[in-house]
Amino acid sequence: MRILVLGATGHGSGWIAAEGAVRGHEVICAARGRSGTVPPGARLVKVDRSRPGALAPLAGQRFDAVVDVAYGALGWVREALATLDAGHWTFVSSINTYADTATQHQTADAPQVPPVYEEERVDLADTTPEHYGGIEVASEHAVRDTMGARSLIVRPGPISGPGDKTDRFAYWAGRCHRGGPVVVPDDPAQPIQHLDARDLARWVITAAEQRLTGAFDAVGPVRDFLGTLTEIAAVVGRADTELVPIAPADLLAAGVHHWQGPASLPMWLPEPFYGLVSHDWRATRDAGLTIRPFADTVHAALEEDLRRGNRPRAAGLTDEEHAALLS
Ligand SMILES: NC(=O)c1ccc[n+]([C@@H]2O[C@H](COP(=O)([O-])OP(=O)(O)OC[C@H]3O[C@@H](n4cnc5c(N)ncnc54)[C@H](OP(=O)(O)O)[C@@H]3O)[C@@H](O)[C@H]2O)c1
Repeated sequence: MRILVLGATGHGSGWIAAEGAVRGHEVICAARGRSGTVPPGARLVKVDRSRPGALAPLAGQRFDAVVDVAYGALGWVREALATLDAGHWTFVSSINTYADTATQHQTADAPQVPPVYEEERVDLADTTPEHYGGIEVASEHAVRDTMGARSLIVRPGPISGPGDKTDRFAYWAGRCHRGGPVVVPDDPAQPIQHLDARDLARWVITAAEQRLTGAFDAVGPVRDFLGTLTEIAAVVGRADTELVPIAPADLLAAGVHHWQGPASLPMWLPEPFYGLVSHDWRATRDAGLTIRPFADTVHAALEEDLRRGNRPRAAGLTDEEHAALLS
């Protein structure tokens, strides 16, 4: 097959391009080349989608499948749809498109946030999840309106695996690996869910090969968060690694943030957001998604963390912040 990946120099899209190339497909990638290089066997066409007409070098070519990972960029999605000739179109959207962030075990037909018809790409750092989600919903509509029964909408939750720059898993793998006490939120009720980018890629390429259509949540099974941290400690921890649960109220009082970014306990969420990390994965599993052993993802996360060396992490507590909490 001739596959065009709009992206492919970053994390999720890079693994999609890599999977296509490994299977012997002709993989063409369109990106600026700023986030990294394209995987071996794939070819980069340099484009900057913030410039109107950026995809003109690809117009007039026929692609068996297009995979677009544009986010918060309705104008880019519309331009790609108007320019490219494709037999099958995968749009990688987001779990942030759902209106209800609290209810667990929702399926892909759950209500979405209202569409936001804003053409210019938004800076995710300057927007709310609802606004970003609304642009993704509008982008999904554009894909469906243009590609109809040839479209596949993929809505990932948190993506893990090698190359994950968010450091959400890397933080926990690194801290457990260094040994000693590890502060964790004392909330046995919190669920968590993730999908390794390599599993996402395998499924997206298989879906393109089989011309799968419809909308699916790209998530793995629901796990419990504390149990997941215990498992990470078991896989990469030392003999003296010990999880130390601290009450959520005390963490908040000490200035610890949820989910990601500096001074956070990554992937920790307040109850109104449990629904975001506990979608029902069975429809996607039945449509071919397979999940690697969790230990694979944990080892990849540890490698990410070790690669960072002394450089600041994108998420988590610094050693000083961690020690201050313990004391
Ligand atoms: N990461 C998560 O946990 C998560 C969660 C939910 C949904 N998703 C979705 O999953 C997909 C993959 O996410 P990801 O974070 O791993 O993204 P990614 O694969 O790193 O993709 C970003 C790509 O966009 C390209 N790009 C950025 N600006 C561009 C421009 N002006 N012109 C052309 N290309 C441009 C980047 O290439 P250059 O910089 O080289 O141009 C890069 O290849 C996205 O659709 C995202 O919305 C991710």
